[in-house]
Amino acid sequence: NKDILALQDMSVDEMQLILDTAKQMKQIIDRDIKKVPTLRGKSVINLFFESSTRTRTSFELAGKYLGADVVNITVSASSVTKGESLRDTLLTVEAMGVDAIIMRHEAEGSSQFASSIVKPVIINAGDGAHEHPTQGLLDMFTILQYKGQIQGLKVAIVGDILHSRVARSNIWGLKKMGAEVHVAGPQTLLPREMECMGIRVHNRIEDAIDQADVVNVLRIQKERQQKGLFPSLREYARIFGVNAKRLALAKEDALLMHPGPMNRGLEIAPDVAYSGQSAIQEQVKNGLAVRMAILFLVLMGGKNIETIG
Ligand code: CP
Repeated sequence: NKDILALQDMSVDEMQLILDTAKQMKQIIDRDIKKVPTLRGKSVINLFFESSTRTRTSFELAGKYLGADVVNITVSASSVTKGESLRDTLLTVEAMGVDAIIMRHEAEGSSQFASSIVKPVIINAGDGAHEHPTQGLLDMFTILQYKGQIQGLKVAIVGDILHSRVARSNIWGLKKMGAEVHVAGPQTLLPREMECMGIRVHNRIEDAIDQADVVNVLRIQKERQQKGLFPSLREYARIFGVNAKRLALAKEDALLMHPGPMNRGLEIAPDVAYSGQSAIQEQVKNGLAVRMAILFLVLMGGKNIETIG
């Protein structure tokens, strides 16, 4: 498949290739090289129907560092506000001859839909609560960086699982790479499908975190709570928030992760968010490396590697 749509559909070999290539990209970032000609002549469009800081900016920088032309479409200032459909927006962008479209949209399956109607490479930057494959890959890259392996690790994913595309991409990716995945959250934020995904599901956050190697905390997506949050925000923080006491249940060297943006004081306590165990800032840096790797692989098919540093 030319596109990056979901980790559910990606083979272990494909994931491994992206992770290995991201290692080379990280070396470029670490050497502070901010322009190579690898993707010269390629054009990339960031088409985000939902807000983003990390994903959109890192794809923009990834493309620019590799020499591509990158254009951001601000949907609120585009013809979508005049009623233009997703299909027509995609066809319009395709007519301009772009090579890749990085798309975030509130509808599950929107990237698959885009892939079926236009020729440029489609990279899913988040489709509703379905998947966020590049986040799943950068999370695995971060775990590999600190732990050296994924196979056999206990990974706890805690928080608003129901609305989380990050949770689903992490679950598919981590399971394929051999991790033991546990999820936890209030019953109201745990979708039934989790029971069928071959993972352990807990209502008590302590049971998921107990002896975990990695604790990945997910944001409470207040904007997607249709009937208000149950439990309330205050109850959530008290019963499910990850604080120093709860994190101490994990292994001593457990890694604390969060895809961002964080609700500090709600799903994660301020004192642990930037503690020595936190890999949150490194996740952001790794997002750039992984997205450089993805653009390189999908636009060049791995060719032209000699132009990189
Ligand atoms: N983690 C993540 O997708 O962050 P943004 O919404 O800022 O892109």
